[in-house]
Amino acid sequence: MASDDATIWPLDPHGRVKDLILQRHLDAWLPIMTRSFRKLLYVDGFAGPGVYEGGEPGSPIIALRAAILNRALRNKPPDCELGFLFIEERVDRVAALREEVKKLLDLEPLPGWLKYHIAEGEFEAEMAGSFDRWSLRGRRPMFVFIDPFGYSGLPMSLIKRIANVPHSECLITFTYKSINRWAIHGDPQKERHVDALYGTSSWRDCRGDEQAMVDLYRDQLLAEGGFKYNCTFKMKDRLGVTEYFLAFGTNEPKGLTVMKAATWKADPRTGRVFSDADDPDQLFLDLPLDPLREILQCQFRGCGWVSTEDVIEFVRHTAYSEEKHLYRNTLGPMERERLLEVDRVLGSRKGTFKGAHRLRFV
Ligand SMILES: C[S@@+](CC[C@H](N)C(=O)[O-])C[C@H]1O[C@@H](n2cnc3c(N)ncnc32)[C@H](O)[C@@H]1O
Repeated sequence: MASDDATIWPLDPHGRVKDLILQRHLDAWLPIMTRSFRKLLYVDGFAGPGVYEGGEPGSPIIALRAAILNRALRNKPPDCELGFLFIEERVDRVAALREEVKKLLDLEPLPGWLKYHIAEGEFEAEMAGSFDRWSLRGRRPMFVFIDPFGYSGLPMSLIKRIANVPHSECLITFTYKSINRWAIHGDPQKERHVDALYGTSSWRDCRGDEQAMVDLYRDQLLAEGGFKYNCTFKMKDRLGVTEYFLAFGTNEPKGLTVMKAATWKADPRTGRVFSDADDPDQLFLDLPLDPLREILQCQFRGCGWVSTEDVIEFVRHTAYSEEKHLYRNTLGPMERERLLEVDRVLGSRKGTFKGAHRLRFV
């Protein structure tokens, strides 16, 4: 359960799915955009500490790794300057994030075409300041990930400014449970935050009706925000109660295609919902093993050499079996596709993992 107080907190199953959707989208978005534009910006507006309690990477690390370790971009660096702006309001989480970024860059140095900046402050104020500065230097397409715990500080007026910048996209956590819990009791201050979130006060007419609340937010992303396309993906908790929706807005048909490919992988049945009530890994059991590969990449890519035993131990904590799924079905193909380097004892054969000391996910 995410906590508002602790510096870091455990990763929920649906949090892991959220991160996989982000990673998959960026894996596809980065090569397309960096080949098409000279300047780009990636913003993580509610960045968090960069790590979860179990050592899993947070969204800023996932984004940095997606850019640094992208194979096509490594082989042929793009003629593009991509800036990462991570915004986080809490000083302890900023410190944790700086530490996580440093750990990553000690292992995988930042290529010259990438820059990053960690801003301690509030998303809305930092973005407003950035817009004022950029308007002097020309605007650059941006991808903005907006992942709050609550519903204040991400007004539709700001989404509109982002959507106005050509080729820009937003992925927003629309925290339905929190809105439903706190803003339905007629507290004027809370209601004003929800007014700003929607860019209208007419949400009051849909109070308590989940579908109507999310449909209105989607409509507002188009009508008030100015995006041409959008889609949503629902996350439910262990009891099957809706936690939040990921809402995606873009002006590019290709952007929508790429995001939908990511959400359909997360939910092959409908492409629209994930529930902690399902075993998070169970979902993937009868399907191709790409998810295990992606879970391993999400956990270990950019970590340098890791011991084979640590990887096996990690897999034990998922629904996958190291015997049945890991060696021949996942690590073997990854090595052949050069997504994995293996440090073996002298004389042991390529493709076998019995004599492997260390693995490096690239
Ligand atoms: C849900 S967490 C982010 C998790 C992160 N995106 C990830 O996936 O690893 C939300 C974060 O936003 C921070 N935060 C809260 N209000 C904020 C604001 N107005 N501006 C920037 N950060 C804020 C919180 O301290 C918290 O670290």
